[in-house]
Amino acid sequence: MQLIQEMEQRLAGWLEAIAGSATFAALEKIKVETIGKSGILTTTFKELSNLSIDDRKLFGEKLNKIKNTIGAAISNQVKLIENLTITEKLKTETLDVTLPVVNDSFGSLHLITQSVRRIRDHYHSRGFMVLDGPEIESDFFNFDALNIPKHHPARQSHDTFYIDGFDETLLRTHTSCVQIRTMMKMGLPIRMISIGKTYRNDPLDATHSPMFHQIEGLVVDKGGITIGHLKSELRKFVAAFFEVQDVAIRLRPSYFPFTEPGMEVDCRYTKENGRLKITKDGDSWLELGGAGMVHPNVFRASGIDGPAQGFAFGFGLERLIMLRHGITDIRTIFDTDVRNIRHYA
Ligand code: PHE
Repeated sequence: MQLIQEMEQRLAGWLEAIAGSATFAALEKIKVETIGKSGILTTTFKELSNLSIDDRKLFGEKLNKIKNTIGAAISNQVKLIENLTITEKLKTETLDVTLPVVNDSFGSLHLITQSVRRIRDHYHSRGFMVLDGPEIESDFFNFDALNIPKHHPARQSHDTFYIDGFDETLLRTHTSCVQIRTMMKMGLPIRMISIGKTYRNDPLDATHSPMFHQIEGLVVDKGGITIGHLKSELRKFVAAFFEVQDVAIRLRPSYFPFTEPGMEVDCRYTKENGRLKITKDGDSWLELGGAGMVHPNVFRASGIDGPAQGFAFGFGLERLIMLRHGITDIRTIFDTDVRNIRHYA
């Protein structure tokens, strides 16, 4: 077979061309011309079908050998080029790690993250579990189980985002839903907090944001948990959060459907050089959040039949952060201005 002889003669030339290729493109070209789909070897293979069985076997083997030799040479050369490229890169792109650092600012945790961690630490040290709950909630956990039945006026005061196309599914308007979920799952006793995102259909302005964080607390048992315990726990938390020795807490009667009695949590503060200062003997009162003794209907809805008693509280995290850092616009907390993040690092 004349063609095969010709192939054998050309092999040396091909191998030389391959060994002399410096780029992947050059190799690809040779590959296409020889062992590619319409390469010269591939077309020769097709012609073998015209030969006798014996010849087909003989020449087929020869042709295969040539093909494999070319294939192996090409992959060898590919590896060689790859190694060369890496060596070349290493030569030109090495970093001199002994150079002095130009910019040593490595970023910092966001104010929200910092605060969440501090609060978590405080409650861990007080023996609380720190739990999470879903942000997409059902009407049942966000309202019904918290003694806020359909058409209850309290539903109007929570400007709720409902999820399109899903019945009675919403973005939770508060973290109180986690109270129900925890009691259903664990029964009594419970000592937990939950910190997370909540949503209300409020326009974004200096004091409102459609998304904000709440800290929910729940301490319940079969009995023996009083408003005195609540007040003491609140005092410790507020003092820890504002990093002061002691604070004065006032519980002012208020209404939440899921508490009985319900109350607003105030603490003493004073103005010093125009800045707010939380202090035990401040001359004014500041509202911090809501609290109360858990309503019997809430225990019932959570599947707790026997005797049960305890307290719950809820604080807005951004409000606490604003008070602590003297921030007057909530948008400062959520914007992406790195100068703000650095400032509160
Ligand atoms: N869930 C209430 C709110 O969002 C706060 C609260 C929690 C009040 C627990 C009392 C007890 O306003």
